[in-house]
Amino acid sequence: MGESNDPVAVLFEMTKKALNQKLELGDTEIMISRESVEKMPQPVKEYKNLEEFENDINECTKCPLHEGRNKFVFGVGNPNADIMFVGEGPGRDEDLKGEPFVGRAGKLLDKILAAIHFDRSEVYIGNIVKCRPPNNRDPEPSEMEICLPYLMQQIEMINPRFICCLGRIAAQALLETKLPLGKLRGTFHDWNDRKVLVTYHPAALLRFQQYKRDTWEDVQKLRKAYDEYKASS
Ligand code: URA
Ligand code: SF4
Ligand code: URA
Repeated sequence: MGESNDPVAVLFEMTKKALNQKLELGDTEIMISRESVEKMPQPVKEYKNLEEFENDINECTKCPLHEGRNKFVFGVGNPNADIMFVGEGPGRDEDLKGEPFVGRAGKLLDKILAAIHFDRSEVYIGNIVKCRPPNNRDPEPSEMEICLPYLMQQIEMINPRFICCLGRIAAQALLETKLPLGKLRGTFHDWNDRKVLVTYHPAALLRFQQYKRDTWEDVQKLRKAYDEYKASS
């Protein structure tokens, strides 16, 4: 068998080699721990489009958040968007409607988008976790870790040049950092060949007017970088 870049084929070859070595050493009982199976790279499923992906995962029960959900909130917008906005997780309104950012924070997000001349339908909007945390508590690190591969796959499929993380929770989860929002916001982070900008969560702006100026400056930077990218591609 020749060289392959297919991750499943590579994994298979590695496993075969390891098992053959064990056999050569006279070890004929093969034991694979549950832990090591869970650590194996998941085969990347190929989907025709986002709808097919959504249909495959919308009854997910992988983390405890499924218990309290009314509706699974996959994400909405342009499947070929060059900008994606990522929030933390559905709130009450989103959980009832099955759509991200439709409540009070969502209305403000629409205004922020309008301020930089974007319409909701041009961009893609999603969340770190796809089911509502009870009483709008922060999602647990374990819940985010379990759900994040779904967002990663959405990002791969949509292939946006820019990702705007809304608030600390989304930024820390996506960028895999514990740095505070103040250290993360306002500049572009290189991330998996994409540019990630972090800004305040619109719900924070509803409570703290004083964050509005910084947010305005952040999204202006995003618009400028987007325009430069469009002009050069
Ligand atoms: N807050 C979020 O982080 N996401 C939503 O979808 C709505 C509110
Ligand atoms: Fe599944 Fe994510 Fe919902 Fe948890 S939050 S049940 S991982 S879709
Ligand atoms: N920044 C945020 O994004 N949220 C807060 O609640 C406070 C600061």
